[in-house]
Amino acid sequence: MKKIIAVLGFSLAALTGCGEEENVLVVGTNASFPPFEYIGGESGNEIMGFDIDIVKKVAEDNGKTLKVEDMSFDSLIVALNAGRIDMIAAGMTITPERQANVDFSDPYYEATQVVVTRKGNTTIQSIDDLKGKKISVQLGTTGDIMAKEFSDQVVAFNTGFEAMMELQNSRVDLMLFDKAPAANLLKKNQELELQELPFNAEYYGLAMAKGNAELLKQVNTTLASMKANGDFDALLSKHIK
Ligand code: ARG
Repeated sequence: MKKIIAVLGFSLAALTGCGEEENVLVVGTNASFPPFEYIGGESGNEIMGFDIDIVKKVAEDNGKTLKVEDMSFDSLIVALNAGRIDMIAAGMTITPERQANVDFSDPYYEATQVVVTRKGNTTIQSIDDLKGKKISVQLGTTGDIMAKEFSDQVVAFNTGFEAMMELQNSRVDLMLFDKAPAANLLKKNQELELQELPFNAEYYGLAMAKGNAELLKQVNTTLASMKANGDFDALLSKHIK
């Protein structure tokens, strides 16, 4: 019996692949970050977006089938280092802290944080004004990390949408989030507005397990060729501009 269970366990592991199957590229994301990754499409449950189109090309260039796994943002690096996924494509900012745990591709997108407030709130004129404010963020993001530098009243949610609802319901003063996804969330919202402050630029990269030099090289090659042949700009205008 033990043997049967062992065999079963083994074939299950082989079936689910866990990033170990040769011809499948398993990419982890958090599909609550439009236009980079979100759930939509005709079926209403397709994972799509700018990042997804990029990794489609990475998979295609390397003769692999793409499998995208949706999970919470703060569990992506854990999943990568446990071997459950081969790569992270999640609008993830390259930071020195993350670089201690993963390898990033060349940067592919320049972003920045923005402040979202209820319309007519004039209390935030400068970065200094963030001090001591109640701030909502998405858990584990650079917005979350930055908010904590200014305030000990930070509430973190699994999605930017939930962080936005907290602001809409006046339980926080502001939300800190990446600019393009914030603008996207606000499209259908009449009550909130976006404000730009001179925050530092952030650069998104695709993340791989440390030491996966071959995949890293393949990814950078695909990114470079997409930039050279216009595919990258086409994706930018399709999704973002
Ligand atoms: N750029 C920010 C960061 O790296 C936010 C990324 C959130 N991405 C997502 N797919 N929810 O922390």
